Amino acid sequence: MNVLLVGSGGREHALAWRLAQSPTLDTLYATPGNPGIAQHATCVALDATDHGHVIAFVRDHAIGLVIIGPEAPLVDGLGDSLRAAGIAVFGPNKAAAQLEGSKGFTKDLCRRADIPTAGYVRVGNRAEAEAALATTFGYPVVIKADGLAAGKGVVIATSEAEATAAFDAMFAAGDAPVVIEEFLTGEEASLFVLTDGTTLMPFGSAQDHKRVGEGDTGPNTGGMGAYSPAPVLSPALERRAIDEIVAPTVRTMAADGMPFSGVLYAGLMLTPTGPKLIEYNARFGDPECQVLMLRFRGDLVALLLAVAEGRLDTAAPAAFTDDVAMTVVLATRGYPGTPAAGGTVAGIDAAEETGATVFQAGTRQDGDRLVAAGGRVLAVTAAGPDIRAARDAAYRGIDAIRFPDGFCRRDIGWRELAR
Ligand code: AMP
Ligand code: GLY
Repeated sequence: MNVLLVGSGGREHALAWRLAQSPTLDTLYATPGNPGIAQHATCVALDATDHGHVIAFVRDHAIGLVIIGPEAPLVDGLGDSLRAAGIAVFGPNKAAAQLEGSKGFTKDLCRRADIPTAGYVRVGNRAEAEAALATTFGYPVVIKADGLAAGKGVVIATSEAEATAAFDAMFAAGDAPVVIEEFLTGEEASLFVLTDGTTLMPFGSAQDHKRVGEGDTGPNTGGMGAYSPAPVLSPALERRAIDEIVAPTVRTMAADGMPFSGVLYAGLMLTPTGPKLIEYNARFGDPECQVLMLRFRGDLVALLLAVAEGRLDTAAPAAFTDDVAMTVVLATRGYPGTPAAGGTVAGIDAAEETGATVFQAGTRQDGDRLVAAGGRVLAVTAAGPDIRAARDAAYRGIDAIRFPDGFCRRDIGWRELAR
C-alpha cells in the first residue's frame, strides 16, 4: 500500500521512520516533510489547505491511506474532504477534532457525560470573564483561549493582577471565547488511545516537559522532552481513565453524530480523587510520538488502516517493548520566542552511532549543510531497560550533536528519576 503522511515535525519523522518498517508499505509520500522524513519518504510540496490538490495527488499515486499528523489540517477539515472522496484517513473529521480545537466544546461534553475534569465557566467577553472571576473561583485560576494556540493559550493566574494581564492579552482584539477553570493539583500524564469511533485500543502513556527551563520553569513550549511509559499512570489508573474519561467521550461523540476516528491523546491530571481530564488532543503528541514509536512493535500501516477503515475490533492489541524510551529536544536559542534560523546542525550520524535515534523537526537542507529552520530542531531519542539507562542513552546522543545555536534541558525525566 502507498501511504501519504501529512506534516513536517519530529512527530511525523518518528511516524515515517516506523511506517517505513511496515511490511504493508510500498511507497511512503510525505507533505511537506523535512530532511529527516526524506530519509524514509518521497517528500512533495502539496498545499494541505487545498483539499482538491491533496485528493488529486492521492488518486494519481494510488495512495490507500492518508495519515494526518498535526492538528491544524484536522481542524481545517482535510479528513472530511478525503473521506468524502472515498479515501481512507487516519485522523478525525473537523467536527470530532473540536475535542482539541475548542476547549469549551470539550468542557461542555465532559459536563454532559459526567466526565471528571476541572470546574469551568465559558465566557465570550471581558465583562463576563471578570464576573466569573469575581464570583466563581479563587486563586490560582486557569484562563484558556478557546481555540488552537500551540500550547501558548493557557495562563495560570495566581492573583487578580495576573488574571487582568491575561484578559488584556486574550481580549486585546475584542470579544473572544475563553474558558476559566478551577486549578487542579496533582501530577500530569498523557494517555494515548486509538479509536475508530467505536472500539478503543490503548496505545501507551508518556510524560512530557512543557516548560522551556530546567525544573519545569519558564514559558510553555510544545514540549522539551518526554518519556514512555509513564509509571505514575499505573494500570489501575489507566483503566479508570479509559472507563471514566475516554470511553464516555468516544460514546458521546458517536451518539452525537461525530464519531472520533484516529488517536485520542488525553492530557490527565492525577488528582487525589482520581484522574481528571485537562485537555484532549486529536493527534499524537510531539515529542510523545517519538518515544511511542521507538517502543511500538508491529505493523503500523496495518494498524492505522484498521482504525481508518473502522475495523479496529479485528486488530490485535498494540504491542510495545518493555523498555523505557526517552526523547530530549534540541531547540534553537530563543525558543519558544522567535529563534534565529540558519544555524548549522551536525553530528547526527555520530549521535546515531551511540545507539540513539535522531528525529528531525525544524531542519532544512542548505546545500550540503543541515540547518535549523524552527524552534524545535531535533528530538534525540533512545531506550533502555529503565529510566536511568534511557536518560543516559538519550544524553549520549545529545552530546554527539554539534549545534552551537541550540540548547536542551538536561533534566528530562527528573520526576521519574527521583522516584
Ligand atoms: P492545556 O493546553 O489545556 O494542556 O494546558 C497547558 C498546561 O496548563 C497543562 O499541561 C497544565 O500543566 C496546565 N493546566 C491546564 N489546565 C489546568 C488546570 N485546570 N489546573 C491546573 N493546571 C492546568
Ligand atoms: N507535547 C504536547 C503536545 O503535543 O501537545
